[in-house]
Amino acid sequence: MVSLQSADINPNSTSSSTAEISPNQQILPLSAQVNKSGHLEIGGYSVPKLVQQFGSPLYIVDELTLRTACQQYHRSFQHFYPGPSQVLYASKAWSCMAICALVANEGLGLDVVSGGELYTALQAGVDPRKIYFHGNNKSVAELEMALACGCVIIADNWLELEQLTEIFTSVDSLSSPPRVMLRITPGIECHTHEYIRTGHLDSKFGFDPNHIDQVLSFAQKNPQVNWIGFHAHIGSQIFELQPHQDLTSVIVEWLAKAKTLGLPMNELNIGGGLGIRYVESDDPPSIVQWSEIVCKGISQACQAANIPYPKLLCEPGRSLIGPACITAYKVGAKKDILNIRTYLSIDGGMSDNPRPITYQSVYSAAIANRMEFPATEIVTIAGKHCESGDVLLKDIVLPPSQPGDILAVMGTGAYNYSMASNYNRISRPAAVLVHNGNANLILKRETYQDLIRQDCLPRHLER
Ligand code: LLP
Repeated sequence: MVSLQSADINPNSTSSSTAEISPNQQILPLSAQVNKSGHLEIGGYSVPKLVQQFGSPLYIVDELTLRTACQQYHRSFQHFYPGPSQVLYASKAWSCMAICALVANEGLGLDVVSGGELYTALQAGVDPRKIYFHGNNKSVAELEMALACGCVIIADNWLELEQLTEIFTSVDSLSSPPRVMLRITPGIECHTHEYIRTGHLDSKFGFDPNHIDQVLSFAQKNPQVNWIGFHAHIGSQIFELQPHQDLTSVIVEWLAKAKTLGLPMNELNIGGGLGIRYVESDDPPSIVQWSEIVCKGISQACQAANIPYPKLLCEPGRSLIGPACITAYKVGAKKDILNIRTYLSIDGGMSDNPRPITYQSVYSAAIANRMEFPATEIVTIAGKHCESGDVLLKDIVLPPSQPGDILAVMGTGAYNYSMASNYNRISRPAAVLVHNGNANLILKRETYQDLIRQDCLPRHLER
């Protein structure tokens, strides 16, 4: 059971010294306050007022939290790693122009996994030299798009290597050799949901580590490509530091091997994966602790292998954007089933947050217009979709609420909007970026016209 009323966590106490606070260890965004009316405020803006102005459901993104997380990663890598480094934002966590532009403004590069994410990043003005293009089945069109803009391609498999070399030889307009990084499965297990584990041997991502000699020999035979280094990612929502530490020695071994073969590789990308606190019992390490382990692990392994420090990259997604956002919903119907359960329905659900139904994910929530009321009711928050499994929070303790009250669900920045759907033809919500009492729309709410925008009615069905 999870509750999150002011008595439990006192959001007003977290806003004074944000420099010390790791956003991924907080349930609420850093700027969260309870105002004089007892309403939750984010970015100096009352949540019920935001809903009045922008409608509901509404994603509310706290600029302070996102910027603080970017800065903590950036500064920690500068501090703990003796060589050059670059933090990338894994834009799959939430890809839209405003968020891409904001993280780029903090000096971060971007990880993209599709032509659509690449297009969004380029439209947002992100420097293509700082974009790294992933994917286990990139299309030829996507590879061509990546080559044309000059971003780094993270090669994932043999077919892709063949396609890439074919495209390089057929296109003579490339001004400089394409930069390619090799993704290898590190063979490292970690404890997270099986759908979001990627580092174990039985993974669809990356080259089998047992084939590394063949991959490197392919690289040696294709010097027209700028083989810049290696990539590995072990999974997501990870609370342990050990698997990341283990990864540092494995990835440096690959680099040392490449160097002995005379390949001039000089970049290592250790992926993302740091978890965030969704509920009180979650206990992730801080951004600084994670960065320290990774940076020291790489530098010590390089010293031991007697190779120069490569450029070190990481690509967190969830720990950057996850804690920065809350989703506000309007409370609607209530159903009391005697001695069984009380359902409280809201005006969104699995179409704006598919994580509970997909991964059994848990969240914390509060009634944003009753922050000072005692939490005395156990309720289950049901979405409005035609599916019994559409439940966002099970058995949460909240103050008694009325239809029209505002439910705020915390930590919804990562993999909510980006995995949102139009199931039941429900429009995707709007999103606002809030800071210092200002709210800027970053995504418009979809309209009914938007929902039928791609529909085609064959002539014989017209009436
Ligand atoms: N790099 C690669 C290659 C990845 O596959 C991922 C996430 C990341 C970086 C960022 O990982 P993060 O720092 O966000 O943990 N939809 C799932 C999560 C899927 C993660 C996919 N890859 C969820 O909602 O939990």
